[in-house]
Amino acid sequence: MASLTDEIKRRRTFAIISHPDAGKTTLTEKLLLFGGAIHVAGAVKSNKIKKTATSDWMEIEKQRGISVATSVMGFDYGDYKINILDTPGHQDFAEDTYRTLTAVDSVIIVVDVAKGVEQQTRKLMEVCRMRNTPVIIFVNKLDREGRDPFDILDELESELKIGVRPLSWPINIGAKFKGVYNIYENSLDLFKPDKQKVQERVEITDLTDPRVDEAVGEADASKLRDDLELIGGVYPEFDKEEYLRGKLAPVFFGSALNTFGVKELLDCFVKIAPYPRPTQAEEREIRPEEEAFSGFVFKIHANMDPNHRSCIAFVKVCSGKFERNAPYKQVRTDKVMRIAAPTAFMAQRKNVVDEAYPGDIVGVPDTGNFKIGDTLTQGENLHFRGLPSFSPEMFKYIENTDPMKSKQLEKGIRQLMDEGVAQMFVNQFNGRKLIGTVGQLQFEVIQYRLLHEYGAQCRWEPLSLYKACWIESDDDSALEAFKKRKHQFMAVDREGRDVFLADSNYVLQMAQNDFPAIRFHFSSEF
Ligand code: G4P
Repeated sequence: MASLTDEIKRRRTFAIISHPDAGKTTLTEKLLLFGGAIHVAGAVKSNKIKKTATSDWMEIEKQRGISVATSVMGFDYGDYKINILDTPGHQDFAEDTYRTLTAVDSVIIVVDVAKGVEQQTRKLMEVCRMRNTPVIIFVNKLDREGRDPFDILDELESELKIGVRPLSWPINIGAKFKGVYNIYENSLDLFKPDKQKVQERVEITDLTDPRVDEAVGEADASKLRDDLELIGGVYPEFDKEEYLRGKLAPVFFGSALNTFGVKELLDCFVKIAPYPRPTQAEEREIRPEEEAFSGFVFKIHANMDPNHRSCIAFVKVCSGKFERNAPYKQVRTDKVMRIAAPTAFMAQRKNVVDEAYPGDIVGVPDTGNFKIGDTLTQGENLHFRGLPSFSPEMFKYIENTDPMKSKQLEKGIRQLMDEGVAQMFVNQFNGRKLIGTVGQLQFEVIQYRLLHEYGAQCRWEPLSLYKACWIESDDDSALEAFKKRKHQFMAVDREGRDVFLADSNYVLQMAQNDFPAIRFHFSSEF
């Protein structure tokens, strides 16, 4: 029987992130194809929210509902067990993505060769950098006209603030695209547009092999040799340790739609990507190979059917072996619970599982007992750090419009915030509750769900704010002075921490200048 350590070492838990439309869904699907989890392309329901539907969030929620099944995709690939954690494509759900990134051990970033680094990619990379998450970059859509690959490398380096090292190299781009030279494996992969099958590989001994000239023509072969010489001169050899420390990103080129360069990416990924790493709890570091089980809830997915107010809490196993029906302690409430029907997500189907190992994600049916960040253990009081909330960017006061239902409203708001739908602050000056989100859609989602799940009605009152940021200081009197001066703009978050509501960038900068003893934080993790 495989030992716990064997099970851990064969697991690769990661997320694919990208700016919408770069090809995340397509790449995910192709990875599943190689894992035998699906048999034909087109089988993965896109988790992407079509642009036309942005005004129709019910439609979006339906799509999100569908995406529960594809939230986590587990499959075996050779000796490896792969867990892909999906992230919502729509930027209004960026917080979901940030939280998912706390549950992965590494990340694959997809970049469109024509568009380069886009805004969403930059933001997500910041989250990876905060945690030193190892990153592999896949430059996609080589079958389309795009930018010069050297320019793309420069841009990746400067925009994503990470060292890069190409491990494959394209031979032309767009209509003239002939394939890639796989630097990692020392082979030549020739491109044949095909959406279902894997392309043929030309095995060569080294670049001087005349088969390179035969395969791509003399001119392109010569350019390839020049390019690779340049790469060898500019970029140091690939250093796996640097990658594991989150300082260096290997780069692959390909075309997800044509299943080109995907297998190479996957083969290299399983070899170099980290297996489950230790998790930092407030009390101590938890190593995956510890015998006692521990895990935390990083995501709660609500069922949109108003008749069944049920959710799935996604638990990442951090250490030990998870077992069905075993007594586990929910540390926040000090309650012991037995999970009778935990599910895992294999080959796109949700199955009840009897056990799970570090790196795996277990779906736990929930009727409102779980909160994001909750810890399950075999008894030890552990609190996991690192479920950051980011400074929201849109704010509205929430008002009760049905005085008979204020209790329901309170409860609804509390539970929705526990689910991580948005963040609530209480303005200390006027006592009003304000909700902060990263996108307009959340306000509509909250209003709809309050009405349909809790029977409570609310109204939004616009509020023009630039940012809410957490403040702290070692100097109590400076903190008091700040709070006094800004008393109209002070709020507290749900944990009672001080939050400054800056109504413009200028005001924020002035505050930072005037109060050097105060630290301003743009994420709740500090
Ligand atoms: P996303 O999840 O990152 O948002 O992107 P998705 O995979 O949905 O891909 C966005 C669009 O780019 C899709 O086209 C997809 O077919 C296309 N695409 C992905 N990879 C490649 C590639 O390697 N080459 C080319 N030429 N196109 C690629 P769409 O028309 O928006 O959607 P669909 O109707 O084809 O699904």
